[in-house]
Amino acid sequence: MVESRRGASARAPRTNFESASHRIILGDCVAEMSKLQAGSVDLVFADPPYNLQLKGDLKRPDESHVDAVDDDWDKFDSFSAYDDFTRAWLLAARRAMKPSATIWVIGSYHNIFRVGAIMQDLGFWLLNDIVWRKSNPMPNFRGRRFTNAHETMIWAARDEKAKGYTFNYEVLKAANEDVQARSDWLIPLCTGEERLKGADGKKVHPTQKPEGLLARVLLSSSKPGDLVIDPFNGTGTTGAVAKRLGRSYIGFERDKTYAKAAEARIAKVEPLPEESLAPFMTAREAPRVAFSELIERGMIMPGTKLFDAKKKLGALVRADGAIMFGDKVGSIHRIGAVAQGAQACNGWTFWHVETKKGLKLIDELRAEIRAGMAAE
Ligand SMILES: C[S@@+](CC[C@H](N)C(=O)[O-])C[C@H]1O[C@@H](n2cnc3c(N)ncnc32)[C@H](O)[C@@H]1O
Repeated sequence: MVESRRGASARAPRTNFESASHRIILGDCVAEMSKLQAGSVDLVFADPPYNLQLKGDLKRPDESHVDAVDDDWDKFDSFSAYDDFTRAWLLAARRAMKPSATIWVIGSYHNIFRVGAIMQDLGFWLLNDIVWRKSNPMPNFRGRRFTNAHETMIWAARDEKAKGYTFNYEVLKAANEDVQARSDWLIPLCTGEERLKGADGKKVHPTQKPEGLLARVLLSSSKPGDLVIDPFNGTGTTGAVAKRLGRSYIGFERDKTYAKAAEARIAKVEPLPEESLAPFMTAREAPRVAFSELIERGMIMPGTKLFDAKKKLGALVRADGAIMFGDKVGSIHRIGAVAQGAQACNGWTFWHVETKKGLKLIDELRAEIRAGMAAE
């Protein structure tokens, strides 16, 4: 299995934000996902019923009622009924996934171990489990066990041999002060303005997930323009984040009230400016550009003088792409080092050309070429 660490490729096709679409299909996710074109989906995020098996009313110590998940959609007659349902929706999702697609499933201790075992049995290849640590968990009102302060997300490829799945390793690292991103994420529950409320002031849905969680999921394992689906749309958190991040989205929800609320929510979302989502490239990932290409493209003419930032040192550009300092001829790097009496030098970030607006680093000219390559 080959893990793609390319991040967004330098030659990734341009995202057509205009064509990104977002819709919610009302109905049973197993039946409806089966109608999708096989192998068409880039990413699945699933927040299935947890099968919480709540028995009786949950009360706080002051006897007030706790607004827990006791909805019909979360009820199954037995573990085996839950397992059958899990198998059915996972198979429908898998059929719709591209060979390089990945899937995320979130759950609690009530269901995630069953889901994980079934995923392995069906041939999914587990890549990571992420612990979503809640910074503001709901207390365990019965007080007899630990507070449930986390949920688990399984991230998996379609199968063991899946190649080229998206993992934006470098982006995540850059966003994490250049330290490799970890598998435990501290994110608060969805509260305040973000929480959808009805006209009666009550929560529209009992298990609305925080957008911050979905943003991390989509930013780590999808690209702008990808098709993301969520079999258990609920309030449309995945759809709202997908739209904001320039991904297309299809959500499935069998409850009309939730589907309507989600539709209204997603409609209000403004996609972020395209530049803020543009493919990210580290120096290591960027395509190689030779200094001679600047000459070939007419960006620097032979005979031009290159200068250091203080304009104290100057070198002449030759027609063959080498540069000359006194009687020394060589690459922009070697001559940069010679001119400074240094061991080594990155010529791209040392030499400048003179423009009407002042000195311009030749690295900026290289960046212009690379930007053109990404748009090709
Ligand atoms: C745990 S909630 C998802 C919440 C969602 N992640 C959010 O942020 O709002 C699960 C949702 O799946 C829906 N659901 C349950 N079984 C379904 C099925 N077979 N087909 C479609 N939707 C289903 C429920 O109505 C519920 O809204």
